[in-house]
Amino acid sequence: MRILFIGDIVGKPGRKILSNNLPMLKKLHNIDFVVANGENSAGGNGITKNMAEELSRCGIDAITLGDHIWDQRCLISEIESIENICRPANLPPGNPGRDFVIVERDGKKLGVFCLLGQTLMKIKADCPFRAAAEMSAKLSEMCDAVLLDFHAETSSEKVSMGWYLDGKVSCVLGTHTHIPTNDARIMPNGTAYLTDAGMTGPWNSCLGRDKNAIIEKFLDGRPRQFTMAEGDDRICGCIIDFDDSARRAKSIVPLIYPPFKNADILSDGFRAESPQNIGNPASSEDSDAPSQDSQGALF
Ligand SMILES: [Fe+2]
Ligand SMILES: [Fe+2]
Repeated sequence: MRILFIGDIVGKPGRKILSNNLPMLKKLHNIDFVVANGENSAGGNGITKNMAEELSRCGIDAITLGDHIWDQRCLISEIESIENICRPANLPPGNPGRDFVIVERDGKKLGVFCLLGQTLMKIKADCPFRAAAEMSAKLSEMCDAVLLDFHAETSSEKVSMGWYLDGKVSCVLGTHTHIPTNDARIMPNGTAYLTDAGMTGPWNSCLGRDKNAIIEKFLDGRPRQFTMAEGDDRICGCIIDFDDSARRAKSIVPLIYPPFKNADILSDGFRAESPQNIGNPASSEDSDAPSQDSQGALF
């Protein structure tokens, strides 16, 4: 089973780059299921039923949410009627919506749920770890693979969740910070883990918002409107291969489409062929340590 997970979809640019490219990416990478976090689909603030249907039409099987869940008030009355969307399973009792989604294809079932972190989050949520234990036990009984989107601010809370669920779910994938992290890995008991999948939307921005307004706020501290940014649209996420019979993840590979320019540098062999490295080979005494010059060239 191969799953494409897409990080926070931001506004019209995020929706548009997906409708233009997702069918091609699914075909290119032989994707069985697509799961995406849609919490910023409506101009950066929440999602509506119309937008959820638009995302489903372009090939997304299940949609997860986060702290922006109720920014569009209409979702409160719409959410029960959207079958492939799940709200954070640790929202307090009284919140409408499903706490998981199961998608089925070719006889295989993928269970999807999302949770909110509690550290530095401005929305009330119950303990994500207790909810994770309950949801993972329930879904692993019913499904071949289980995916958790852990929507949280701090890397400590996210990696703790990864360790807590290692071997209990197929993937623990972080969202919310909008910046992808470089730690995709298979944990010892077979769970694929990534601290943050990043943002699908305009990268000419601060996290999808107009960068100038954010910089000005950092400079003078005054509140102001943060409008949606435009330009440099990219899809950000990861692809997970799951061994159905062994019930373990086989691989997790980050995806940024189109890739950033710096991706060309390493694929051109910059590391091996840089003049600094050729002129200053590491001595035999310290051959395990990178040379000063190679460190300078790389970082
Ligand atoms: Fe968020
Ligand atoms: Fe977000």
